[in-house]
Amino acid sequence: MKKTLAIIFAASITFSGFAQDIKLAEPAKTGGMPLMSALAARKSTRAFSPKEIPSQTLSNLLWAASGLNRENGKMTAPTACNWQEIEIYAFMKSGVYLYMPKENILKKCLEADMRAMAGIQDFVKTAPVVLVYVADRAKMKGRDGKDADEKAKDFYCCTDTGFVSQNVYLFCASEKLNTVVLGLVDRVELEKALKLSKEKKVILSQPVGLPPEVQPAP
Ligand SMILES: Cc1cc2nc3c(=O)[nH]c(=O)nc-3n(C[C@H](O)[C@H](O)[C@H](O)COP(=O)(O)O)c2cc1C
Repeated sequence: MKKTLAIIFAASITFSGFAQDIKLAEPAKTGGMPLMSALAARKSTRAFSPKEIPSQTLSNLLWAASGLNRENGKMTAPTACNWQEIEIYAFMKSGVYLYMPKENILKKCLEADMRAMAGIQDFVKTAPVVLVYVADRAKMKGRDGKDADEKAKDFYCCTDTGFVSQNVYLFCASEKLNTVVLGLVDRVELEKALKLSKEKKVILSQPVGLPPEVQPAP
């Protein structure tokens, strides 16, 4: 079974413009659990199967998180002033990728498996995908084109990240995936490792994976 899933996943990866970027499947924008059932099932869980998430599910997850849902380029998660400043990095065994919603690709940024850096708790590295939410504060400008003030940026980029995270929670509830949002992240180390410019700040991370076959003792 493990081998079959690995083959399906590998077969679904096609290389886009740059070596080893992952071209995502077209996201399925219909179906899933009724909203009220997903809300009833939403919860934080901190144990994961090491199995890969199927490639279609990965694409759907990213689209649910913050994909394009309208012709005008707006997204599944709202952002203050439509700044669209929240970037989603996917930390996986094969490397670190940046989700690019317009292109519907995962752009490879780093070759290394850095899942262990995406949170300080031991379970983080066991999830097949850890989403890391990064705010690009350079995008947060007033109508006059000048930078918003720093306190407003702090407030809005954290608020905007919350919407993305809740989209992921609801998608996971609907797909029976495990997830938990994490504030316990060594942001300084992670920003260094990702070689982020000084305007880009790590806000939260969120591991996602199938539930483990054997539930840990309560
Ligand atoms: C902003 C934020 C940061 C959080 N950080 C962590 C964390 O670092 N580690 C963790 O295990 N849970 C973390 N959580 C999950 C909470 O502990 C969890 O949401 C809370 O216990 C309620 O449980 P529920 O999500 O199942 O309703 C965080 C939740 C939020 C909203």
